[in-house]
Amino acid sequence: MERDDGMTRGYLAGAGVAAGMRVLEVGCGTGEVTAVLAGLVGPSGHVTAVDRDAVALARARDRMTGLGAGHVRLACADVTADPALPEALGADGFDVLAGRRVLMYLPDPSAVVRRLAGRLRAGGLVVFEEADATMVPGRVTPMPAHDRAGGWLRAMLVAEGADPAMGFHLPAVLAAAGLEVRGVRAEAVIEGQGTQFPLADLVGLMGDRIAAAGVATSAEVAEIRLRIGGERADPAVVYVSGMSFCAWARTPAT
Ligand SMILES: C[S@@+](CC[C@H](N)C(=O)[O-])C[C@H]1O[C@@H](n2cnc3c(N)ncnc32)[C@H](O)[C@@H]1O
Repeated sequence: MERDDGMTRGYLAGAGVAAGMRVLEVGCGTGEVTAVLAGLVGPSGHVTAVDRDAVALARARDRMTGLGAGHVRLACADVTADPALPEALGADGFDVLAGRRVLMYLPDPSAVVRRLAGRLRAGGLVVFEEADATMVPGRVTPMPAHDRAGGWLRAMLVAEGADPAMGFHLPAVLAAAGLEVRGVRAEAVIEGQGTQFPLADLVGLMGDRIAAAGVATSAEVAEIRLRIGGERADPAVVYVSGMSFCAWARTPAT
């Protein structure tokens, strides 16, 4: 599933990610944000992107090869525990620490941010985008299949120990990591109309995890995807399935 990363691009550029910067990205997954970062810093900068999932990293590697992004380095490590992490990051210092939808999965996100921010130059930029599910769903037309599927995703995250309110918690997480918070933004994720995370695709991709969490069966997931499609027949209907928060901060100047 390819996503429209315009929101993320706007967040990163607005926070100050620019040509020539050296970026450390955490939880890069299949490299969607990595590609955005690689474009923003250009060949005069570089991106080191870390994830613990070797399969996702292989897809990220293919994506970077396809883009001809020779200024991106990918490393496999668990950012919470891996003693090999310092070696994976190399000796370089960085200007930026970035990530999207990863802090919500970490048991102590402030500790991880504090440790990784220690690899930044003084006054370095820290920018994270995280989802928040506390204000959704938003709609003026009844869309029960959308509501049901969104509820499953939220229940799955909770069952997995993730924080579905990380968007709201993000500034506090950065402050607790010893950073100076400079700004917070949030944008609604609208289903249909160029959605970044289409609900029917998302619930399909997460089908195994939803079933493993005991939230719904695979058959129920398959059925809800069809019903979501039916509710989306009218392109004028607006459904807010999530909020995406961005907070950015600076490491102390000295
Ligand atoms: C929801 S995905 C987001 C991927 C990507 N940032 C994006 O927005 O497209 C979360 C990613 O964080 C990674 N992750 C979670 N915990 C991690 C950890 N402790 N160390 C490294 N990566 C981790 C997962 O493997 C997964 O690829």
